[in-house]
Amino acid sequence: MSTEKSKRKILATSALPYANGAIHIGHLVEYIQTDIWVRHQKMSGHECHYICADDTHGTPVMLRAEQEGITPEALIERMHKEHLQDFTDFYIAFDNYYSTNSVENCDLAQDIYRRLKKDGLIDIRSIEQFFDPVKEMFLSDRYIKGECPKCHASDQYGDACEVCGATYSPTDLINPVSAISGATPVKKHSDHHFFKLSQCRAYLDQWTRPHSETADSNSSPLQKEAANKLAEWFDAGLRDWDISRDAPYFGFEIPDAPGKYLYVWLDAPIGYMASFKNLCERQGIDFDEYWNPDSTTELYHFIGKDILYFHALFWPATLHFSGYRTPNKIFVHGFLTVNGQKMSKSRGTFINARTYLKHLDPEYLRYYFAAKLNDRIEDLDLNLEDFSARVNSDLVGKYINIASRTAGFIKKSFSGQLADISHDQDKMILNKLQQATNTIQLHYEGRRYSEGIRLIMDLADHANAYINDHEPWKTIKDPTQQERTHQVCSTGINLFRLLTLFLKPILPQLAQQVEDFLNIPPLQWRDAETILVNHEIKPYKHLAKRIEQQQIDALLADSRESISVKEPETHSQTRHAETQQHTSPPIAETITIDDFAKIDLRIARILNAEYVEGADKLLRLTLDIGGETRNVFAGIRSKYKPDELLGRHTVVVANLAPRKMRFGTSEGMVLAAGPGGTELWLLQPDEGATAGMQVK
Ligand code: 2FM
Ligand code: ZN
Repeated sequence: MSTEKSKRKILATSALPYANGAIHIGHLVEYIQTDIWVRHQKMSGHECHYICADDTHGTPVMLRAEQEGITPEALIERMHKEHLQDFTDFYIAFDNYYSTNSVENCDLAQDIYRRLKKDGLIDIRSIEQFFDPVKEMFLSDRYIKGECPKCHASDQYGDACEVCGATYSPTDLINPVSAISGATPVKKHSDHHFFKLSQCRAYLDQWTRPHSETADSNSSPLQKEAANKLAEWFDAGLRDWDISRDAPYFGFEIPDAPGKYLYVWLDAPIGYMASFKNLCERQGIDFDEYWNPDSTTELYHFIGKDILYFHALFWPATLHFSGYRTPNKIFVHGFLTVNGQKMSKSRGTFINARTYLKHLDPEYLRYYFAAKLNDRIEDLDLNLEDFSARVNSDLVGKYINIASRTAGFIKKSFSGQLADISHDQDKMILNKLQQATNTIQLHYEGRRYSEGIRLIMDLADHANAYINDHEPWKTIKDPTQQERTHQVCSTGINLFRLLTLFLKPILPQLAQQVEDFLNIPPLQWRDAETILVNHEIKPYKHLAKRIEQQQIDALLADSRESISVKEPETHSQTRHAETQQHTSPPIAETITIDDFAKIDLRIARILNAEYVEGADKLLRLTLDIGGETRNVFAGIRSKYKPDELLGRHTVVVANLAPRKMRFGTSEGMVLAAGPGGTELWLLQPDEGATAGMQVK
């Protein structure tokens, strides 16, 4: 546990998103990964600052603003608001979300440039480039189009051909044109400022080797795969880096070089420092303590694998040679795929953060990403079927279920008061969870979230098994077992509290709701040492809903770009054709309202579900129908696993005569639609209906 002595001072960053586009779920992998890590640090009592900003400079922002008829400043202000709202709604809790177009960043970037120049690390060279005579601007490779010199495909970009894959320089294109004005570009010389990266090799060599000033001693600043990549780049030779652009350019002017601007990638990472500086000024934090070359504070950058070169070569070299500290570690992650493929607009899998929020709970995505994230540079797949199944079974079926099976009894029968825990069995299961705390913390620290979740869900299984074994829904009816039932339910609530603590970095909002329900202050890691006894909790309100297939369908439809009319069938047309093939049985004979009134339909909550030995179609359900429990055998095994059913509400025929079956007596019938087999859908009321309510 953390003490003042071991309190760490940490600065963590995620890559700065470009200000010219919306945040999508591919971006969110990184922000969620970092946010979980930072929340874990804060829960350990460490001083940890999470810094980010919009990456605002460069030609795309300048051109987009021009197209929209507004200033770049107005555009980046609007995007800043949108980005911050997206992040906030996904519970990404930056300590500062700033902008690279700030006074602090301008001062720092220009100062760093001056320091590098003073050290002899800036070289000015004249280079020849394409120039658009109509727009009067130099054109980077992406803004020149022409015929591929290899395969002669037309309309190819200046750096690579999308048809034959050839790479070349824009001057090799046949009949080049400016992609901005359509004019034929001319070649023109201009002075460019270069950072002499070639002279930083010895330093970078040393920086990439394992060094031990970090909390986690025996480690290199890079994961193995990243270190290998760097070795390749070293072998190929480090080329000097062009850090200037000519006017017109949206960025910072280079000191004493009129008409020359700092390239966006020079000032972007300095934006990490600038955002932090802004926070320091507002909160009285000592900026120099974090950035001086001998700093004992820790600096970590979370990034995607595509920007490793900038962060592992340019950035440490820039920092070191301008007299600042360098990062302790660069944490690199892979890309996101959806259903095993690159995100695609036509498939509807290019999902913007805002679109997702319209259909699904942000914490579900946080949970799923966490369940798949590890410390390696692997791509991560969001398989939408697996996503629903996992959220429904882990979060709703296992975790939330523990509270929903015990909290009601505490409130109803024991006036919301938790009992003392004295029974050995209760202590043992609680102890099992408490003992796992340290391992879970280590998984968070090492970014092995998937391993952490595996362990947490294993513990949730144990907690559920404990409740199954003690069957409080049965013992509650026995007046002689009241005390024991009270203890069991109190243990259940404590198990739920510990699991909430374990999941809190991933599910901060849910944890906050649980803290409110348990009537306790915000959970910290050290709280794992204690158990809640003789304590009053508040009434339980249902905490999480299952994901329904319609939500996923609606999300994809909403994300899908207008589908080409040439496509033979849209997804929904296919679905329609399929459903048309089912022939439903004819409508039955008419009955009177009095006939219908004889059937007493009630909302039931599934307290327990289990397989029935020797019956391949049946599940045994224990239902709460409002102060009364029923044992019902339901022929739904081919469609549902017991886990998925726990805690769900459904509809039961409550006045059906009990039926003796081979396995026991069935005291009711649950309602489901569909012909049977896997084509079966259990009825479920809208959110808010509670056990015992009459269905009319
Ligand atoms: O690749 C990107 O999206 C960049 N905007 C990341 C910048 S990260 C940092 F260097 F600022
Ligand atoms: Zn080609």
